[in-house]
Amino acid sequence: MKKRLLLLPLLFSAHANSDAIPLEVLHWWTAPGELESQKILEKSLAAQNIEWQNFAIVGEGGDTALRVLQMRALSGNPPDAAQIKGPDIGEWAKVGMLDEIDKVVDTTSWQDILPQVVRETVTYKGHYMAVPINVHRVNWLWLNKKIFNELKLPVPTTWDDFFITADKIKAAGYLPLAHGGTAWQDALLFESMALSLLGAEKYRKAFVNHDEDVLNSVEMIAVFKKFKRLNTYLDQSLVGKDWFNASKLIATDKAAMQFMGDWAKGMWNASGKEAMVDYMCVEVPESKGLFSYNIDSFVLFEKYNFQARKNVQSLFVNTLLSKQFQTEFNISKGSIPVRNDIDMSKFDACSQKSYRAFYNGQLVPSFTQNVATTSHLQNIITKIISNYFNDPQADAAKTVKRLSLAIRAVK
Ligand code: GAL
Repeated sequence: MKKRLLLLPLLFSAHANSDAIPLEVLHWWTAPGELESQKILEKSLAAQNIEWQNFAIVGEGGDTALRVLQMRALSGNPPDAAQIKGPDIGEWAKVGMLDEIDKVVDTTSWQDILPQVVRETVTYKGHYMAVPINVHRVNWLWLNKKIFNELKLPVPTTWDDFFITADKIKAAGYLPLAHGGTAWQDALLFESMALSLLGAEKYRKAFVNHDEDVLNSVEMIAVFKKFKRLNTYLDQSLVGKDWFNASKLIATDKAAMQFMGDWAKGMWNASGKEAMVDYMCVEVPESKGLFSYNIDSFVLFEKYNFQARKNVQSLFVNTLLSKQFQTEFNISKGSIPVRNDIDMSKFDACSQKSYRAFYNGQLVPSFTQNVATTSHLQNIITKIISNYFNDPQADAAKTVKRLSLAIRAVK
């Protein structure tokens, strides 16, 4: 609750003038929590006399938004800015559709204030092609405090413990695992488990470098088999629902655990829940020091008359990276700032934990959030994983083969 009050002055003080410059921005922040964060962005830009023109596409972790964007861009009418991240940035840059950020603002200080992994993620052929905004941690396990206290359950730190805990929760009549069943969410469960069981190096080999030996390994087959066990702890009526439908069950004390990125925390905090009081953020079992990251960023589309547009573009980029915005936005979003010089004392305990892990842990890009691959390949991979998860007859060894062949075909 305290956190929300902090944001109110910003939300109510900034108003765009009638002569404000319009900026159309495509994004998919439409879930509870995400909406509040997007409003902070809108108000911060309004304070710079930029009028936010909302091009919001609901659902599917951005899948639909990216398809709509392709259509707009192909018809020669892209928005001014769009939420594009990871290797997709390079795909758009490659076809010459983006403005280089280093032509818009002086990026000299980025070298010092942005961590290397952030800089690399938004760079294509030596140029910054997107402005980074936050770092989300994907491999979290969230626990409902009330249910864990009531059932006197310890935090599961191994997968064996996890399954014992889940069985106890089920026996007590609560839903063990809150999970909306769309393909990327199924794959997120898999990703968190695969990182924990394979470790950072093999995860990277398999899902970043697409090394066929690791993809086809006996270990990978074992990961798929263990992953399937998670399916017995879900509520099947949530299949096909967005992540926040599942997260609501944690907030209403109906479900005990959820694997999800920390944007879920943005939603819980927006409804007045408090980290470590109402819910806990713990490491995915057997994942100590492992951090799968998701970096949100915006690209600027190249349009006619660059000089005339440069002013609004530079205000946009500088606002997003300002200390005040980095603090207010990320407190609301559940993520941590991209800048390394932000005072973290105003952030909740989970963000502080994430910050420490980000700077001290082993970092890997999340493939389910398309930070490791393009969204095209991500879609193919996540569908194979999801089909396996939902088909009781599916075979782990055959799925592993299918996965590596599909990746080979696309690469
Ligand atoms: C991700 C995005 C996050 C988050 C999530 C769920 O792709 O990077 O910021 O909001 O989708 O919508």
